[in-house]
Amino acid sequence: MRQPIQAVYPGSFDPITNGHVYIAERAAGLFDRVVVSILLNPQKKAAFTVEERKAMAREALIHLPNVEIASFSGLLVDFLRQEKSRIIIRGLRALSDFEYEFQLALMNRQLAPDIETLFIVTEARYSYLSSHAVKEIYQFGGAVHEMVPPGVYRRLRERFPLPRDLAP
Ligand code: PNS
Repeated sequence: MRQPIQAVYPGSFDPITNGHVYIAERAAGLFDRVVVSILLNPQKKAAFTVEERKAMAREALIHLPNVEIASFSGLLVDFLRQEKSRIIIRGLRALSDFEYEFQLALMNRQLAPDIETLFIVTEARYSYLSSHAVKEIYQFGGAVHEMVPPGVYRRLRERFPLPRDLAP
């Protein structure tokens, strides 16, 4: 019997967007098991705690039975070893992502030559979308409900109520 093929889809997911959901769906169609892994990085100021981000991701990806949600700290390649995976999934939006992603992939290869980074290209409608943009647009009162899963939108409004939400 062949071994199940497992992939890890790492990121900050602060919070998960519809673009991330799309990449997770594509990955879920390719591999037996996909672990969406949220980096626990105390140095990086995040809008949501890791537990909140995990809860939002779990809710957004509930329709994908072969996708699990986890968190990790330290080196990504060590987490892959722990998960017995040799595949890192990253989403690519625009050419501007490429330099950073190339650097990350080469660094991970240097650390662990047996691990491969595979890129999944996003859909055109998500090419401009990022967690950072969602938070910024939301903060200035712009509409983000079509950019994030419903649970994320709900938590954004609970955590950062806008004046219109506070109005009696
Ligand atoms: O969503 P992001 O913030 O672009 O994800 C970046 C992430 C989490 C994939 C990357 O920062 C990472 O893997 N960090 C863990 C530390 C590590 O392994 N560093 C070595 C490669 S530079």
